[in-house]
Amino acid sequence: MRGLDTSTESRPAPPLNDAREFGFGVRHFDAIRERLREFTGISIGDIKQDLVYGRLTRRVRSLGLPDFDAYLALLEQQPENEKAEFINALTTNLTAFFRERHHFEDLRERVLPALIEQKRHARRLRIWSAACSTGEEPYSLAMTLSEALGNRLPQWDALVLATDIDTGVLTTAARGVYPRERLQGLSDSERKRHFDPVTGSTGEMVVKDSLRSLIRFRQLNLNGPWPMRGGFDVVFCRNVVIYFDKPTQKTLFARIARQMEPGGHLYIGHSESLFRVSERFEHLGRTIHRLNGAGP
Ligand SMILES: C[S@@+](CC[C@H](N)C(=O)[O-])C[C@H]1O[C@@H](n2cnc3c(N)ncnc32)[C@H](O)[C@@H]1O
Repeated sequence: MRGLDTSTESRPAPPLNDAREFGFGVRHFDAIRERLREFTGISIGDIKQDLVYGRLTRRVRSLGLPDFDAYLALLEQQPENEKAEFINALTTNLTAFFRERHHFEDLRERVLPALIEQKRHARRLRIWSAACSTGEEPYSLAMTLSEALGNRLPQWDALVLATDIDTGVLTTAARGVYPRERLQGLSDSERKRHFDPVTGSTGEMVVKDSLRSLIRFRQLNLNGPWPMRGGFDVVFCRNVVIYFDKPTQKTLFARIARQMEPGGHLYIGHSESLFRVSERFEHLGRTIHRLNGAGP
């Protein structure tokens, strides 16, 4: 499991470089985390030096650079060329189908039936998976949506917007090909209905077009400009704000609230909280929130 956290432990002694392929000191670490914060809003705790070294060493090596000074110079001089690779190397992308299953149960049993009734004339539904990683979350949302609408689906304008800052994970997500073991969180009927075996592969499954067509994948920095016009009934913003500091989280949730329909639902990660971060939402329990105002 890859992991960065926002720990603020007091600064450890500079690491010993003896066993390392490239010299890497506090100076390099500080410059890297400053750039990462500037590009993404991600804050890295002081104790994450080894992790950062491990993730970026591959990049330094594959570029044929002599050391981290040369890498930092490249990042300084040609940020547009290296920025995406730098971000892709440093983000944490752990995810799973139907991760935190109670969120999907709440959506299926409580939120979507009420929305479908409430919006029966407009027949428009919008869900946003705001840090979608390799696609398991938006595909789980699309399966839930498709199940809730059943044979009414073709008559509805129902879509999942799936965004992430990391271009590498978005490519994987849009491809929709997963090893069979990744699909263990799915029931047999979900697997049969939404996936086909990949011809010629041993055990890979590919998402069917009927499911993929419910999703739009886009690159988006949660801490950058957003092109969307809003109107989201449901937002999944899970396991990403743990990497942001409190002021960044405050700004982000204020912006998310403005993108949502009155009474819309927001799902956050199991170790995340809106306490002292946003008062725009009512906590319904188990990291499920409702935007203050009317709605199901
Ligand atoms: C741990 S994954 C969470 C995936 C999924 N939401 C889940 O809960 O299973 C965190 C994702 O947030 C993305 N991310 C980090 N900073 C971001 C930012 N500033 N804007 C958009 N996505 C970001 C990472 O690229 C990564 O794919």
